[in-house]
Amino acid sequence: MYYPDNVIEDIRIGNDIVNVIGEYVNLKKKGNSYFGLCPFHRESTPSFSVSPDAQLFHCFGCHVGGNVYSFIMQIENFDFMEAVKFLADRINYTLPKEDYSLEARKKAAEKDLIYEINKKTARHFYENLNSKEGIQARNYLDERKIGLKTRARFGLGYSFYKRNDVYNFLKNEGYDTEIILKSGLVIKNGNDFKDRFFNRVMFPIIDAGGRIVGFGGRVIGKGEPKYLNSSDSPVFLKSKNLFGINLARQSRMKEFILVEGYMDVISLHQCGFRNTVAALGTAFNNEHAKVLKKYANSVIILFDSDEAGTNAALRAIPVLDENGINTKVLQVEGAKDPDEYIKKFGKDAFLKQLEGAKSHILFLIQKEKEKYNLNKVEQKVLFTKKIAEILSKLDNEIERDAYLTEVSVLTSIGKSAILNEIKKLSDNNFIDINKTKYNKPKYEINKNGINEARLGMLRIMADDYSIFLKINSILKAFEFEVPVYVKLAEIIEKTYKEERSVYPAEIISYFEDIEEQKVISQVFLNDKKIKTENTFEKEKLINDWIRKIKLEYVEEEIKKELEKDNNSGIRLSELVNIKKNINSLNITLTDG
Ligand code: CTP
Ligand code: MN
Repeated sequence: MYYPDNVIEDIRIGNDIVNVIGEYVNLKKKGNSYFGLCPFHRESTPSFSVSPDAQLFHCFGCHVGGNVYSFIMQIENFDFMEAVKFLADRINYTLPKEDYSLEARKKAAEKDLIYEINKKTARHFYENLNSKEGIQARNYLDERKIGLKTRARFGLGYSFYKRNDVYNFLKNEGYDTEIILKSGLVIKNGNDFKDRFFNRVMFPIIDAGGRIVGFGGRVIGKGEPKYLNSSDSPVFLKSKNLFGINLARQSRMKEFILVEGYMDVISLHQCGFRNTVAALGTAFNNEHAKVLKKYANSVIILFDSDEAGTNAALRAIPVLDENGINTKVLQVEGAKDPDEYIKKFGKDAFLKQLEGAKSHILFLIQKEKEKYNLNKVEQKVLFTKKIAEILSKLDNEIERDAYLTEVSVLTSIGKSAILNEIKKLSDNNFIDINKTKYNKPKYEINKNGINEARLGMLRIMADDYSIFLKINSILKAFEFEVPVYVKLAEIIEKTYKEERSVYPAEIISYFEDIEEQKVISQVFLNDKKIKTENTFEKEKLINDWIRKIKLEYVEEEIKKELEKDNNSGIRLSELVNIKKNINSLNITLTDG
């Protein structure tokens, strides 16, 4: 967090949640709360509630929830800092200036200038396209069926057939040659300055914040290179940018379509698929995935149907997967790429294709299958092993079983044969499991009510200071184990230490991640409250929870210790001791 906590809190308090949400959702008062139709999922009866007292919102349908920051982050697709700025603006709150060093200030000023240069140049290109000399470019776009609205939405333009037009334009606008060169739009050639782009249809590349960071240019008709991108500059890193991200984020869809080319993005957007983005001229990498993950939790890879496209998809899958993005793959037939497909077969056919996108697991298996001759027994055995390896990476049994069924149909290998192979694998590689497992969510829900125990315990700690004191002497924050719970327990403890009360809506601001905010607001939901007022029952419940939480923690620690190559006997016996004593732990609520 870059602003002090009190600033974050002032802004939150200044933005009453009912007022803010009321600007997006039609709210009606019912009892102590307000209700309306949830803006995050489709519904016809209101299950979206806003509490003015707690300054929290929650949807009983899709379980989103949080404070005013969480709401703005989700509805506007902002990250936390953007939400802070937005809400500060809303109440005319002046944010403290970030404390830059001189060097950093110079760099920031330089970047600002380049953004400005890019913006002016984009407008220049746009005007060129619509000028007399832009006729060829306009014809080309007509030919590719890019409508006027789409041209405007993407800010498409044209760079003249002269090699010093951009340079002269920017000089005229008063920019120094040095900064013009740094923008990457002009190249120094001996004593001469030459435009990087000429006689091309121009695509401004816009980042998620709406700033023009660079350009792509396509030759009109045939020519080499077909596409040319801005060179890297202080504001443009090719390996980081996704074309279309500025628009895709506004689609508010949680599933994005990832395509290969500019034209694919543009024609899919034109047909209403505004959640489409492309990595430009470079392989999809970790940086791209990080940007994507801010806005989407699921991606359909839709690359060209040729071998290059297939290989690019195979490379993108693990990158997305490792970033916890749910990944599907689609390859269209009868067209070389999605742009051609949608123009040839239309929107409805395309939509059908999208709905049939395969999970990346099935795609991997399908591709694997092509390498084997399944009429030969030995090859079939090898193939079965390979599938088992792929499936063994799934740790959710229900999911695995669903795939097993599909794979068995796809390959005509019996389910039990595959299952046997998976079992062999997991017997042999037991210790390895954590290394190969897919990213688990940090707050994964556990069996046996442990999650309930943790949630309930955190709630009562936050609600009741006197009970907190008792619990605190025998249960420590780290024993909540799941990072987001541990952090919450620590914050509760810290707040009490500062002799302040715990306000859920304030506490949520400490968590910048939407998923975490969801978990925290869950803790403070009414139904997590201990329902009984009977002290005896309450005491019993709390003690049950304490034991359960401690037991889970200790067992997990023991397991970790045992898996270490050089485990420490001392630590182990310490843990075993704690475990033995768990049942004698007890707090009483009655002794005052
Ligand atoms: N690309 C590039 N340089 C090239 C060719 C391609 O940077 N010489 C990048 C561009 O971002 C392009 C993408 O790779 O959009 C996909 O390439 P390709 O499939 O060849 O282009 P299309 O988008 O199909 O281009 P078009 O439809 O305009 O022919
Ligand atoms: Mn293509």
